[in-house]
Amino acid sequence: MTGMTLENARERRVRTGGVELCVAELGEPGQPTVVLVHGYPDSKEVWAQVAARLADRFHVVLYDVRGHGRSTAPRPLRGGFTLEKLTDDFLAVVDAVSPDRPVHLVGHDWGSVQSWEFATVARTEGRIASFTSMSGPSLDHFGHWINTRLRRPTPRRVGQLLGQGAKSWYVYALHTPVLPELAWRGPLGKVWPRVLERFERVPGDGYPTPSLPTDAAHGAWLYRDNVRSRLRRPRADAYAHAPVQLITPLGDAFLSERLYDELEQWVPRLTRRTLPARHWIPRSRPDQLAAWIGEFVTANESGRTVTAPSGKYADRFGGQLVLVTGAGSGIGRATAYAFAESGARVIAVDRDADGAARTAEMSRLLGAPEAWAETVDVSDEQAMEKLADKVAAAYGVVDVLVNNAGIGLSGSFFDTTPEDWKKVLDVNLWGVIHGCRLFGGQMAERGQGGHIVNTASAAAYQPSKALPAYSTSKAAVLMLSECLRAELAGQGIGVSAICPGFVNTNITSTARFAGVDGAEEKRRQKRTARLYGLRNYPPEKVADAILRAVVRNEAVVPVTPEARGAHLMSRFTPRALRAIARMEPPL
Ligand SMILES: NC(=O)c1ccc[n+]([C@@H]2O[C@H](COP(=O)([O-])OP(=O)(O)OC[C@H]3O[C@@H](n4cnc5c(N)ncnc54)[C@H](O)[C@@H]3O)[C@@H](O)[C@H]2O)c1
Repeated sequence: MTGMTLENARERRVRTGGVELCVAELGEPGQPTVVLVHGYPDSKEVWAQVAARLADRFHVVLYDVRGHGRSTAPRPLRGGFTLEKLTDDFLAVVDAVSPDRPVHLVGHDWGSVQSWEFATVARTEGRIASFTSMSGPSLDHFGHWINTRLRRPTPRRVGQLLGQGAKSWYVYALHTPVLPELAWRGPLGKVWPRVLERFERVPGDGYPTPSLPTDAAHGAWLYRDNVRSRLRRPRADAYAHAPVQLITPLGDAFLSERLYDELEQWVPRLTRRTLPARHWIPRSRPDQLAAWIGEFVTANESGRTVTAPSGKYADRFGGQLVLVTGAGSGIGRATAYAFAESGARVIAVDRDADGAARTAEMSRLLGAPEAWAETVDVSDEQAMEKLADKVAAAYGVVDVLVNNAGIGLSGSFFDTTPEDWKKVLDVNLWGVIHGCRLFGGQMAERGQGGHIVNTASAAAYQPSKALPAYSTSKAAVLMLSECLRAELAGQGIGVSAICPGFVNTNITSTARFAGVDGAEEKRRQKRTARLYGLRNYPPEKVADAILRAVVRNEAVVPVTPEARGAHLMSRFTPRALRAIARMEPPL
């Protein structure tokens, strides 16, 4: 960030169609121009955080939509907010700020609804280099979406219609005369800033709403002038003439993600992104938006077609920063690869320097735009602190943290020495505590969401007389994850505990066996490795479960059939599980 804020933006006024628009500019005019269009009931200030993050690389332009902020309103209001007039405004702004080069358009909410019009009508062709849309569909596409479902109503389609219908209550409300105006000038206008602060928070964003009741009352005409008529008669040729990046917040109370199911038919060059957030992402997720917008603009400027990474969850993890501990082998390595395939930037952490380096190298080949290796012992508090400082300074705040490094230890309770206990707890529990405290702390401080995954084990809920220390460490990780999940829930940070059963990795050949001599330990390691090999559950499947757990924000995830079985037994027939615990272990 450059410290550029809307307060020190250059301002000009652009006259068009009987109104005067307030236009603000940040950054070098020689750079590619990014035009940010705000929604309802907002003013250009909703973009303040995003604009500040883009201004060091781009010429950033924002304007108050007619009737909003410091732009004047048309007279009369009725008929003054048609999509046609809004397109005139956009072209007037573009003529003023970037007469010779097409601009990169970004719209949120109603800003996106109108931008869809700009990106699909003939008279703007050649003026738009790319369009990033968030939380505002094209009314034409929406109209066709409704019509398809009404014409051929399968149960699923009717469900989708009802789902979106329920989310659209405010659209009907805004079509009523006078009531919205009264509400905004009265109680709604008063509580609105507090509602936003409560649910769409971002630290340090003052979010001025200079003239909210008037803006909101004017903006009601955006709906009245356009929605009903356009939904009834959607244009048949509403094809986008620029590449489109669609960013969908999955927790949007106003728009169902299903709305965009058939978007490819209207948009030949579509890149999809999703993120777990509510409606006002320009306020609540500025880092992620600036990164995605920056990447999309830069790619289109250089004439590159933006091809989405091949991974299953590329829409979600593309460009995100993911740190995995124990990434030099087994589950950690497979997890790093899965994130890499989804286009994430990967930090592979392991105490085994070679292992971590190989994982980072392979991650780049698999699709990670950037990947780094860091050699650290996760049980070493100071080393972890140093790593956290370095990561924050060099790579940024981690979006997904996977505390996975762990060691095995087998042996009865009385064979397990205090040193054995210390070692296993230091790595398996304290490593997770350090990771959560340091990287989770940075996430919480940033206030823009994130996710923490801790690798526990089925041993966390399945007692055994062979693994008292290991199982205790994993039970602690499971409970730590549950507690932290409760603590971070209000901040948009999810916490998942992964509980695999027997997975075919190196852990069997490095696990310690307490109470036996070296030769016997070797023999048992070999035997366990053979058994795990026969079981042959691949770490890639655990990695897949980890990515899915993040996407779905799952709390506790048993992986492998035996882990799922034991999980069910621990809840419904714990006595049977205890009986199994007393039996001779296979190890
Ligand atoms: N393999 C299984 O059957 C299984 C089952 C349940 C849970 N788990 C858990 O999954 C996690 C990953 O295990 P895996 O099976 O992939 O084992 P693995 O031995 O193949 O990989 C573990 C990695 O962690 C690293 N590591 C160990 N201690 C470390 C430390 N102090 N600091 C930094 N890195 C360290 C190792 O160098 C290794 O690269 C562990 O927490 C393990 O307890 C494994």
